[in-house]
Amino acid sequence: MPDASLFQPYALGPLTLANRVVMAPLTRSRAAAGDVPQALNATYYAQRATAGLIISEATQISQQGKGYAFTPGIYTPQQVAGWRLVTDAVHAAHGRIFAQLWHVGRISHPDLQPEGGLPVAPSAIQPEGQAFTEAGFKPFVTPRALAEAEIPGIIADYRHAAACALQAGFDGVEIHAANGYLLDQFLRDKTNQRTDSYGGSLENRTRFLLEVTEAVTAVWGDNRVGLRISPTSPANDIADSNPQRLFGHVVKALDRFGLAYLHVVEGATGGPREAVPGFDWLALRRGFRGAYMANNGYDLALAQAALKEGRADLIAFGRPFIANPDLVQRLRHGSPLAKLDQATLYGGDAHGYTDYPPMVQAAAAQ
Ligand SMILES: Cc1cc2nc3c(=O)[nH]c(=O)nc-3n(C[C@H](O)[C@H](O)[C@H](O)COP(=O)(O)O)c2cc1C
Repeated sequence: MPDASLFQPYALGPLTLANRVVMAPLTRSRAAAGDVPQALNATYYAQRATAGLIISEATQISQQGKGYAFTPGIYTPQQVAGWRLVTDAVHAAHGRIFAQLWHVGRISHPDLQPEGGLPVAPSAIQPEGQAFTEAGFKPFVTPRALAEAEIPGIIADYRHAAACALQAGFDGVEIHAANGYLLDQFLRDKTNQRTDSYGGSLENRTRFLLEVTEAVTAVWGDNRVGLRISPTSPANDIADSNPQRLFGHVVKALDRFGLAYLHVVEGATGGPREAVPGFDWLALRRGFRGAYMANNGYDLALAQAALKEGRADLIAFGRPFIANPDLVQRLRHGSPLAKLDQATLYGGDAHGYTDYPPMVQAAAAQ
């Protein structure tokens, strides 16, 4: 039998998690019209409620924050009502769920923006790659650099979305500062070439993130807020000339908030863990007094080793949760994991979403 520590309860701020297995945020692009979560989404999350904690798919804080077709929002009354279906279903199944708050910045397309406008970013630098729109993939465009006077409005959008998440019955929120989206774009020198008080020095590049964190924690209290970073990930054409120094500074600056957890994508998101050889993850952990949630390429053995060696407090699993709604049970028994179907990851209906069977059922069907 595997070592039990992954399956022991964990005190996360005021919450007691049933175990240390976290469901990582996973965009599945299955919201209804108006970017409203629906009963199908509630079924999907409830199926996975044996995770100690679920982090919702990224959910945009405003229409400007949207970058992919069919992703849910968290800023209208209809969206709040849709998310209420999800949180009620998860709670009825004795689970816990945080909402991941998202602004994509330049990783968008005019098709997805208010009045077909340009996506916004710290600087007008076009990303490599393509946007997923309702009409298929379209090349990214050169975004519009935000005026300094627009930044308080985006912080207000975060505050509003955080309040909507509270109203929708979530247990907390996660600020998405990873994977090359708006907050990450401000942090890194490849995407932030501003010369005002939001660019240049580490202090300046970190300012926006800290202001957002201040606004969100004012709504929720510090210990119901987590924050996700991906220091060495090149996701969405992002990079920094010195990620160790940058994220050392970021984590130290965040530590004053007493956040519930720091969620760290270790390596290239969904790719090699050694994206920047020699990056010192333990230095981040040591600089932060809240829980350290590790993610990226974890399996049972890696997860148990990280907990045992004190390198993490919680382990987030992403892809394994897609095809294994009962992942916790499978890990606990050392059972084989089902493989996900790439073709049904983004968009569509129940197929490849809520029809992955749990283990007992899967065994009976053979
Ligand atoms: C289909 C899919 C959707 C994802 N959506 C999100 C998301 O909405 N927010 C986020 O922070 N990361 C997202 N990620 C990244 C995962 O949370 C996770 O970091 C990545 O899959 C690596 O973890 P794993 O090896 O356990 O899968 C997504 C990954 C996949 C495969």
